[in-house]
Amino acid sequence: TLKVAIIGGGSSYTPEIIEGFIKRHAELPIKEIWLVDCEEGKEKVEIVGALAQRMVEKAGNLFDVHITLDRKAALKGADFVCTQFRVGLLKARVRDERTALKYDMIGQETNGVGGFAKAMRTIPVILDICKDMEVLCPDAWLINFTNPSGMVTEAVLKYSNIEKVVGLCNVPVLTEKGLEKHLGLAPNEYQLQVAGLNHFIYIRHLWHQGQDRMKEVLNIVADNPDPLRPKNIPPFKWDPDQVRNLGVVPCCYHRYYYLPDQIMLDEIADEKEHGTRGEIVAKMEQELFELYKDPNLNIKPPQLAGRGGEFYSDAACDLISAIHNDKRTIMHVNVRNNGTIKELPEDCAVEVSSVITSNGPVPLNVERFENPAVVGLMRLMKAFEELTVEAAVTGDYGTMLQALTINPMVRKGEITRKVLDELLEINAEYLPQL
Ligand code: NAD
Ligand code: G6P
Ligand code: MN
Repeated sequence: TLKVAIIGGGSSYTPEIIEGFIKRHAELPIKEIWLVDCEEGKEKVEIVGALAQRMVEKAGNLFDVHITLDRKAALKGADFVCTQFRVGLLKARVRDERTALKYDMIGQETNGVGGFAKAMRTIPVILDICKDMEVLCPDAWLINFTNPSGMVTEAVLKYSNIEKVVGLCNVPVLTEKGLEKHLGLAPNEYQLQVAGLNHFIYIRHLWHQGQDRMKEVLNIVADNPDPLRPKNIPPFKWDPDQVRNLGVVPCCYHRYYYLPDQIMLDEIADEKEHGTRGEIVAKMEQELFELYKDPNLNIKPPQLAGRGGEFYSDAACDLISAIHNDKRTIMHVNVRNNGTIKELPEDCAVEVSSVITSNGPVPLNVERFENPAVVGLMRLMKAFEELTVEAAVTGDYGTMLQALTINPMVRKGEITRKVLDELLEINAEYLPQL
């Protein structure tokens, strides 16, 4: 039987992961689920934990749900550790976004200055969790969705002794669902291959009945990215000539790099008028927790589908089941590169389609990226990630400044230093590395 620890158990997404485990009870012999949170999230984990307990009870008491602030108790003897925490909660996200806006930049939680600040807050905590895991559950798999998922995974790979780590994102899942709908495909009749960095993946193949339909997908997406668009991303249009020329299909987060002027202007204006995504999400979260408090609610409420991260916990359950049952199904995950993407360093994290075995993900071979536009930008973004991870560990100011200076989304000059200094100030209580 299995013990699963979920760190950041107070997340409003928790009913999704609980539903995922309930759905799979026949293939996943889970005995205990431990929802762990911290002092700041005590109330949240108690509310959502009670809902989780009602859901499990309704399903016939398939397993025990423990609610705790004691991380060590939760980790002891765990087989799988899922991390879905947000250091500083949504208020920290909103503070980053507002600081970025002040300097006419985007503070999105995984890109630009927002992703940078979130990495600085998160990496010390994940490395602490890894230290506990070494002692309390050295054989467990760490399944991380805490953003920025790629950089957090890379920090674990480079700076901890935990090797059994997999980073997850729902962008590849949404890509599959979107293409299935648009092309009329059933989930089991095609195979997608993606490769790149988290929130910076390209579709390399869509094999269907012996044909590669990637070029057709590129044509569709170049004119209209909607089939691939998560709910947290507002509608936008590519420059179709530029995107067709890439030769591979970009994900929606690439818009920050391919359309910076337009996106920055539109999204900054929109955020100034309607509030930042974090502020909108904070309202949704409040409404969700009001629903969760209802003692008669014992299912995942449909309102949760308004969040950008929908399906990510379901993907986590799929991944856990694929590892436990040695399913050898293909999923799209963040792992150590090891030469899979030949244009990137061996020891960095990449998001690639992989066969999931009981020994972990085995990445599919990736053909070289032919277009220098793709290679150049991907290497630059990886350099930003490497520097950010290093800065989050060492706390070195020069490294932080360097990371932001090379990031195309960050405005350059005196303003870079100003935004960095302010981010460090507003996040001071969460930055033990400084
Ligand atoms: P949230 O604000 O609800 O945070 C989840 C919980 O983490 C909170 O209850 C909080 O108290 C807790 N927490 C904070 N610090 C902690 C610590 N040190 N130890 C234990 N718990 C701690 O966040 P959310 O909006 O539900 O998102 C959760 C995380 O998942 C975020 O990091 C978010 O970026 C990420 N996410 C990832 C994807 C993906 O595609 N990988 C999709 C959606 C969300
Ligand atoms: C996306 C992503 C996440 C992202 C999230 C935002 O689709 O894959 O990594 O950060 O959803 O969702 P939210 O609803 O919190 O803005
Ligand atoms: Mn993601």
